[in-house]
Amino acid sequence: MPWFTTDSPSRVINVALLGNGTVGKEVAQCITERHEELRARSGVAVQLAGVAVGEPSRHPEVPRSLLTTDPYSLATRADVDVVIEAMGGLDPAYPVVSSALESGRPVVTANKELVASYWSQLHKSAAAGHSDFRYEAAVAGAIPLVTPLRQSLSGDRISNFTGILNGTCNYILTAMDIHDQPFDAALQEAIDLGYAEADYARDVKGIDTADKAAILASLSFDTVVDRAAINCEGITNVSITDIRSARDRGHVIKLIASCQRPTHDDDNVPLEIDVRPTAIPRSHPLATVSGATNGIEIEAALAGNLLLCGPGAGGQPTASAILGDLFTVIRNTYA
Ligand SMILES: NC(=O)c1ccc[n+]([C@@H]2O[C@H](COP(=O)([O-])OP(=O)(O)OC[C@H]3O[C@@H](n4cnc5c(N)ncnc54)[C@H](OP(=O)(O)O)[C@@H]3O)[C@@H](O)[C@H]2O)c1
Repeated sequence: MPWFTTDSPSRVINVALLGNGTVGKEVAQCITERHEELRARSGVAVQLAGVAVGEPSRHPEVPRSLLTTDPYSLATRADVDVVIEAMGGLDPAYPVVSSALESGRPVVTANKELVASYWSQLHKSAAAGHSDFRYEAAVAGAIPLVTPLRQSLSGDRISNFTGILNGTCNYILTAMDIHDQPFDAALQEAIDLGYAEADYARDVKGIDTADKAAILASLSFDTVVDRAAINCEGITNVSITDIRSARDRGHVIKLIASCQRPTHDDDNVPLEIDVRPTAIPRSHPLATVSGATNGIEIEAALAGNLLLCGPGAGGQPTASAILGDLFTVIRNTYA
């Protein structure tokens, strides 16, 4: 049943889309091409109020009247109901997102760097503006992870998580393991397939994984993680020799993020978040997580061991998470 009565004309929800790259393009396409289906299901008519980009000439498929190079003005425009941020980076993303939240607009973002770096500030901005703030797409692409941690597992007590959180790194390590491919060739393939960040150094140096681990740790252990304090080692030093020697021992190398609840509930004991290439036995559940797939094992007191797997990168999987958040904020704010 739709959330709005269907005997009256559908309420129109104006969406400001910030960014029209790998992720933004898929979101724009779903909103425009599946408009009627989404309206029938939700009872609201979602439409693009504007699309902010860096260089308009790169976006001929978007009507010129919708394009702007000023994300701040678009996000805070009076007729905008919801903001979707898919630009990446911190500037202008941080001032734009915080202003939108403070002005009462719900924001959905895919930007893990932003969420991990400004966790407290953005949650304060959302509280100040009574705005819904959602970032399911920022961690592990299409895998529902943020919402389960915020809602389904909120009454449980998580003791630890171990995860493969970067599709690019996992794609590269899998190609090195299965096809004996050199690092550079595997990286190029990951870039060509749209898995890599615009700045792929963030992927291969483990920075992107550490951002996601910080978000997961904050949600899992109800704390604010100091992102700058996380030590991370990426996969740039993993050689084909390392891969082969792990294989000979029945192991596979994965970029693993892990975090454990401190044994004492003492605020002065910092969480230890570890991001590093790790050789795990082939029998480990995460060993079978291959290619751009992400996987995470969560251990909780009541639920036991949970394993969540799925596409962790790419335009469409990320758009799936964004659209889920979009309809959640519409339901929470406007239904
Ligand atoms: N790609 C993935 O698989 C994936 C998965 C999960 C999360 N994410 C996150 O999603 C976000 C977007 O990633 P992406 O891969 O879609 O990036 P992208 O392909 O580089 O697209 C970025 C978009 O933002 C626009 N942009 C950049 N700076 C801008 C500015 N100052 N003002 C207005 N527009 C600006 C760019 O415009 P121009 O094209 O005109 O330069 C482009 O359309 C990032 O935070 C990323 O971490 C990506």
